Amino acid sequence: MRPYFGERFGNASSIHHHGQETRAAVELARESMADLLGCRPAEVVFTSGGTEADNLAIFGLARSGDHVITSTIEHHAVLNSCKHLAEKGIEVTSLPVDGHGLVDPDDLRRALRPNTKLVTIMFANNETGVIQPVEELGKICAEGEVYFHTDAVQAAAKVPIRVKEIGCDLLSISGHKIHAPQGVGALYVRKGTTLEPMLYGGSHERSRRAGTENVPGIVGLGKAAELAVQGFKNGEIARMAALRDSLERAILQSVEGAGVNGEGAPRVPNTSNIYFDYIEGEGLIISLDLKGLAVSTGAACSSGAIEPSHVLTAMGLRPDRARASIRFSLGKQNTAEDVEFAIELVPASVARLRELSPLYNNKEAISS
Ligand SMILES: Cc1ncc(COP(=O)(O)O)c(C=O)c1O
Repeated sequence: MRPYFGERFGNASSIHHHGQETRAAVELARESMADLLGCRPAEVVFTSGGTEADNLAIFGLARSGDHVITSTIEHHAVLNSCKHLAEKGIEVTSLPVDGHGLVDPDDLRRALRPNTKLVTIMFANNETGVIQPVEELGKICAEGEVYFHTDAVQAAAKVPIRVKEIGCDLLSISGHKIHAPQGVGALYVRKGTTLEPMLYGGSHERSRRAGTENVPGIVGLGKAAELAVQGFKNGEIARMAALRDSLERAILQSVEGAGVNGEGAPRVPNTSNIYFDYIEGEGLIISLDLKGLAVSTGAACSSGAIEPSHVLTAMGLRPDRARASIRFSLGKQNTAEDVEFAIELVPASVARLRELSPLYNNKEAISS
């Protein structure tokens, strides 16, 4: 990325050689992203991130009189976009999930109406890592001649994505979830899908997203996509899955009253959402952070909120158990030593917080 902050400063829309140099870099990044997704380069639209990609897909298609179907466990980028559609009078149906966090494809089939324009259901959940049956959902949408958008921000680079096999028309990507910088992303737009743009201006990105491109960000996204493709071949994803599994196993063995949210469902290989009964997740996060282990509750953007996670409550967790849940996310650079460190730290921190918890000390009284 570095040269594109400095010596290669040309505007990719300019005809002179500086512009042509950056244009070539942007188009190379588009090819790398297309390779990651199994689509044509012309079907990739660069955006400022996952939120913009989700918004472009939803507001680009939904019009007055349309019906839109989504799910209760979407990221706020989709959830609040659909809420806004509903406020504008567009009918929105939110499909429930089961205890594993999965949408039932039959529910989708039943929810389709003659005026259904768009189905937007995420590929993998950002809190639990649970993977939806996207291919089955895609087939139902194709049969119903309905556009299918899937937010693949959490799935990209962790599970192989072939847009043709999913049968989606639109698919969102965020840079910072695949080791590219923050503030860049992409939307796959199937050839022939006409979107109303959200930004009006020049004819950048084939008139689907006006504005001078974020060239360094796009170059970083392209490189990250290229490395992600290699990651599926060189075993680094399998290594991450093994580390995540050993972390889960060790924590569940050493802590009573703990369990994995979404266990038993297909999940991305890096995420583990674990509840520790009788404590507050926020307290555990702070305690672990002070010792050098960074974990999260819910989505990063909703932490600080007092409400329990909408994802976990939609899965049927009691509010206290949802609040007692934290999310461990591994990355490619995590090592067995990092996992060992977590395995030592977590049981001790949970035990200390439980000693201070009136809920834990009264647990017999509560359960009887
Ligand atoms: C599933 C999902 N969708 C969308 C987004 C939003 O992406 P961005 O932060 O790039 O706008 C995120 C971010 O964490 C996410 O996890």
